[in-house]
Amino acid sequence: MRSHYCTHINENDLGREVTLCGWVNSYRDHGGVIFIDLRDNTGLIQLVCDPKDSANAHKTASSVRDEYVLKATGKVRLRGEGLTNPKLKTGKIEVVVKELVIENASEPLPFVISDPNVGEEVRLKYRFLDLRNPKSYEIFKLRSKAAVAARNALDELGFLEVETPILTKATPEGARDYLVPSRIYNGEFYALPQSPQLFKQLLMCSGFDRYFQIAKCFRDEDLRADRQPEFTQIDVEMSFCEQEDILNAAEKLLKSIFAACGHEIKTPFLRMSFKEAMETYGSDKPDLRYGLHMVEAADLFLDSSNEVFSSIAKDTKKNRIKALKVPQGDTLFSRKHLKELEEFVIKFGAKGLGYFQMKEDGIKGPLLKFMSEKSIGELVKRTNLEAGDIVFFGAGAKKSVLDYMGRLRIEIANRLNLANPNEFNFLWVLDFEMFEVEEGKIKAMHHPFTMPRNIDAHELEDITSIAHDVVLNGVELGGGSIRIHKKEIQEKVFKILGISKEEAEDKFSFLLDALKFGAPPHGGIAIGFDRLIMLLTKSGSIRDVIAFPKTQRAQCPLTQAPSAVSLEQLRELGIKIRDKKEK
Ligand code: AMO
Repeated sequence: MRSHYCTHINENDLGREVTLCGWVNSYRDHGGVIFIDLRDNTGLIQLVCDPKDSANAHKTASSVRDEYVLKATGKVRLRGEGLTNPKLKTGKIEVVVKELVIENASEPLPFVISDPNVGEEVRLKYRFLDLRNPKSYEIFKLRSKAAVAARNALDELGFLEVETPILTKATPEGARDYLVPSRIYNGEFYALPQSPQLFKQLLMCSGFDRYFQIAKCFRDEDLRADRQPEFTQIDVEMSFCEQEDILNAAEKLLKSIFAACGHEIKTPFLRMSFKEAMETYGSDKPDLRYGLHMVEAADLFLDSSNEVFSSIAKDTKKNRIKALKVPQGDTLFSRKHLKELEEFVIKFGAKGLGYFQMKEDGIKGPLLKFMSEKSIGELVKRTNLEAGDIVFFGAGAKKSVLDYMGRLRIEIANRLNLANPNEFNFLWVLDFEMFEVEEGKIKAMHHPFTMPRNIDAHELEDITSIAHDVVLNGVELGGGSIRIHKKEIQEKVFKILGISKEEAEDKFSFLLDALKFGAPPHGGIAIGFDRLIMLLTKSGSIRDVIAFPKTQRAQCPLTQAPSAVSLEQLRELGIKIRDKKEK
């Protein structure tokens, strides 16, 4: 229908007749001449409907309203002196309309598309209108470019794109499954995949050597700004590889994607062990765009006259005393700020927040009286304390201290705007523990198919895994590992996880079978594609980069999913809904 997109016309086209299609972004009647800003997916251009040029077009223009759909034919000309709009790409030109067709009318919209104060519920209910915002279109243009770049890069590296099933059996990635009832087998269910993990391993057993998929994954878990129940991974697996090969391939992939989106990133990425990340930054995904690192200080309290501190300091297997220096923090934080920071850590399990301030005339702080001169001197040296600095302390059980001090680090960086928003800071976190204990239950830190380094180690916490996470600006962007390719090791891991032989057979017999019939050494990684786009476009929420996302409460306000279904459908599925009051 069109000869050009709105913003593909420029001063080289003066005098040319063009046909444009799009929506009325705005219209103004200036003394009988009607100006319409016509919008398509490329942007805006001004149409002029003057009765002197075309009485018909002017008549039609007088009935248009916002968001009407138009087809306009006319000649390109320069705007008059003083009438240019430097904010628009097409700000120097306009189209004098000869023929105007209203392709469709529009009722007044339920909200102003460009208004940033419209609530998310409303925007998601009318997401098709919300997506008319050119900012959204830019996001999806970049998302599409990134996907194409990923496909091309992986194709060049010899990876084969294979689709794996959506209706499948549970794959344990640590979340709850979304289940789909079977009509043919009443009482039985498919599970939607939490990831294609097991299928990609099976493809390695088939000898496919290098697989990838831009795969939809489904996880029923608590949602946050960077989590959705339904999300996309760039999922990769390769055979006869060492961890190094996977890291290299992932770096190449990310480099290509970023290049396609106009950013050059440096490889290889920095690497850090899980232990160092936790001990120094209190997080397994530290944001290294800023410094703020913690140092160990337990030894400085061994001789403390305060029994609480000295007893914490004595048991470094269970406890930690961490010091976090904020350069110029004493100058930057008022007493009120310090109180707020204390309240912040208390929310995350701290009993309080101790600190030392380095004044011009020496070190000050409530904890000083409990420390020896020697320890104070050592602390100043260890933290390289200078006038104007402040050092915060966290003391107590290891897990809790690392957690709240890590959060404190981020809170301080946010308050002081320490992270450069234009930097892409990548980090590999390696040497994870294989297992972790959560609420008394042993769980795999990655997933149960991750290759342990030393499965027969005496202590559970000494068993590490050949796993890797890639972190970007403090967000876990991707994760993967070398997999177990021997049945015996897989069975040992299941045993440690408390998965009985029967349960393992029931859930994973196909994997155990595959491991019996010549499974090659293999491993891989999955990059969270939505998170990647969220970071690339500096979007505040993962929902901004998903065309039709769910709310934080896992609902789709647009389609009203999830929703009740007819009794007829339930009957076919052999399902009876229990009364809500029934336990
Ligand atoms: P993992 O569970 O670490 O690994 O997931 C890989 C990456 O997927 C993204 N991600 C999510 N993004 C949005 N919403 C969610 N709910 C969500 N959950 C995960 C993250 C994450 O780093 N099968 C393994 C990969 C492997 O071992 O190869 C897996 O899925 O960016």
